[in-house]
Amino acid sequence: MSERIRVAIVYGSGREGRLCDRLVDWVRERMAMQAAFDMALIDPRVHLLGGSGPASGESGLSALREEVFRADAFIVVTPEYNHGYPAALKEIIDAAYREWHAKVAAFVSYGGTSGGIRAVEQLRQVFAELHVATVRDGVSFPHAWERIGADGRFAATPSQEKAFARMTAQLLWWARALRDARLAAPYEETVQ
Ligand SMILES: Cc1cc2nc3c(=O)[nH]c(=O)nc-3n(C[C@H](O)[C@H](O)[C@H](O)COP(=O)(O)O)c2cc1C
Repeated sequence: MSERIRVAIVYGSGREGRLCDRLVDWVRERMAMQAAFDMALIDPRVHLLGGSGPASGESGLSALREEVFRADAFIVVTPEYNHGYPAALKEIIDAAYREWHAKVAAFVSYGGTSGGIRAVEQLRQVFAELHVATVRDGVSFPHAWERIGADGRFAATPSQEKAFARMTAQLLWWARALRDARLAAPYEETVQ
């Protein structure tokens, strides 16, 4: 088995024209520079029943569950919609159950003034139900649309870059610890 940690980046928005694509690109660029991680993507526009992507419908759901199962860790990239997180993200979360167990998640959020932190606080409660640990540090982008440059790329401040580095260090620590623990003793025996 690879020593590298498999992290699935989860798109929180399924909206056409979503800003989420830019944020996910930003996350992917940074994760690609970290040798400790392999990356996968979980996207409501690809996997969900209402999606039109190549893996939508029933095959999309199986592919989605398989991606959740194979991942050791998750980075959820979520906007805030009406002081919560998008319905498309809830659909993704609810599509799997045991596949989430004893893994770890971190959050990159965006929106208006709040930078999506209300969505993140709600997600922490939801992930607790799925036996997913959540790391303390995250990155939030208030007025995220103002950070798109003339080249169409998303730009972060130095403190947001630092927050991302802290977040991924915590994610890696938890992901390694939990992977070792899952191998040492099946977690499912605690979930009867
Ligand atoms: C239905 C809807 C509700 C929104 N509600 C909030 C909100 O409560 N707080 C906030 O900060 N931004 C809110 N926004 C702004 C979004 O966070 C912002 O448009 C973001 O770019 C949406 O992400 P997306 O383009 O990836 O779907 C809302 C946007 C939409 C479409």
